[in-house]
Amino acid sequence: MNITKICCIGAGYVGGPTMAVIAQKCPHIQVTVVDLNEERIAAWNDPDTKNIPIYEPGLDAIVAEARGRNLFFSTEVDKAIEEAQLIFISVNTPTKTYGKGKGMAADLKYIELCARQIARVAKDNKIVVEKSTLPVRTAEAIKSILDHTGNGVQFQILSNPEFLAEGTAVQDLLQPDRILIGGDTTSEGQKAIDALVEVYANWVPTEQILTTNVWSSELSKLTANAFLAQRISSVNAMSELCEKTGASINEVAKAIGMDSRIGPKFLKASVGFGGSCFQKDILNLVYIAKSYGLHEVAVYWEQVIIMNDHQKRRFSSRIVQTLFNTVSDKKIAFLGWAFKKDTNDTRESAAIYVADDLINEHAQIAVFDPKVSAKKVLNDLNYLETRTADQNAAYVLSFENPYEACKDAHAIAILTEWDEFIHYDWQQIYDNMQKPAFIFDGRNLLNEEQLRTIGFVYQSIGS
Ligand code: NAD
Ligand code: UDX
Repeated sequence: MNITKICCIGAGYVGGPTMAVIAQKCPHIQVTVVDLNEERIAAWNDPDTKNIPIYEPGLDAIVAEARGRNLFFSTEVDKAIEEAQLIFISVNTPTKTYGKGKGMAADLKYIELCARQIARVAKDNKIVVEKSTLPVRTAEAIKSILDHTGNGVQFQILSNPEFLAEGTAVQDLLQPDRILIGGDTTSEGQKAIDALVEVYANWVPTEQILTTNVWSSELSKLTANAFLAQRISSVNAMSELCEKTGASINEVAKAIGMDSRIGPKFLKASVGFGGSCFQKDILNLVYIAKSYGLHEVAVYWEQVIIMNDHQKRRFSSRIVQTLFNTVSDKKIAFLGWAFKKDTNDTRESAAIYVADDLINEHAQIAVFDPKVSAKKVLNDLNYLETRTADQNAAYVLSFENPYEACKDAHAIAILTEWDEFIHYDWQQIYDNMQKPAFIFDGRNLLNEEQLRTIGFVYQSIGS
């Protein structure tokens, strides 16, 4: 089947960038990205591509090139479904906040709504592609919804998980390590797989396009995220031991990373991993393992999350302890709020939990992040429901200027590894702070020697 029209349901951090790159690389395919969120679609259509809703280096240029040519953003979901031969489902699959599996299982209500909408609207055969991260065997549920339309339309379900990381999404999409496509082992399934392979083959070498059965593909995504997060929790666990023993986690990570069997990536000790994926996907994995009665498997992976929560809490406790056991009414400047650099995404950012802990101790938090708005910072804290919105607003203030955020502060906490922080005028920042002036570097980002020479009391992770 020669694909000429693609629809993607969900114009978020995955749907937007992924479809922009497909459109750029496949000018012969019309790509329409749809979403129920009118504000988000309007932002994707903003004449100035600097205002698209997702900040990713290089994305604005790709959108500028393809939008209006063969890339379209729309709220007309039915129309886009009807026209497309191939439909990506790229909606959110957050952790359930209610009912059975609350706090663990993935909430699949948005996925099911999409399946039902496709079933209702489709008049000819479609390939439906799971782009969202889903529990293993979700394709079965989607298929059973789609197979009950009674109008003779045939559907093929593929799993094509996305491996991009935020902040490097464009690069990851242009040069992926691999593309994974899972499908039915029948000949119809193979034809659907081939159709999607052909789309990616426009820019990805075919030897990097891996095809498997649906269940392997679904489970590989959860497994990849669990392995990546596990490395961070492992290195963070060792960071605590380093702090007790005089070893340095940066040196230990370098030493073990040079073992080609271990490799150097994802060994950076930090205040704890954040982002919308790692925690959600591991909790989901733990839930799935438990539901099959695999207690040891569940407990093994759950520890990755327990360690990460410990690392975040340890960071805030260390700030309180070092500031003479009280931060009440002290100004603590947060440099960074996003869950990593080069993104405006704050979902599950460690900064939120560290701030929440410090507000419990009545600290005044002054936030500067180059890409995160004051409104988002407050929304993130309000979402925790630890205290009222008014109380949060009384404790947290965002600044447009990092030097203002740090003025008169008792301490600075580095929560995100934005490159620009390295190049600040640290002497000027020091001169305008309360003394002793403390820096808690949750990303091991800054130059320790330079800061100590200026006069800062500097503490990093794992040394
Ligand atoms: P997101 O919240 O940024 O975007 C999802 C979008 O889907 C939202 O804009 C929402 O309005 C829309 N939506 C929900 N239900 C809809 C419906 N019925 N019809 C139309 N639109 C609907 O989420 P995201 O970060 O893009 O993640 C999407 C999926 O991709 C998740 O399953 C996630 O686990 C997975 N994933 C995310 C990343 C990442 O880095 N963010 C990476 C790989 C995989
Ligand atoms: C992750 C996966 O990397 C990606 O493949 C998947 O598609 C989605 O989930 P993402 O969450 O966007 O991507 O970013 P990632 O680079 O993985 O970072 C996640 C968190 O781990 C961030 O908070 C980051 O700061 C932290 N991290 C990462 C560390 O603390 N140390 C490291 O060595 C690497």
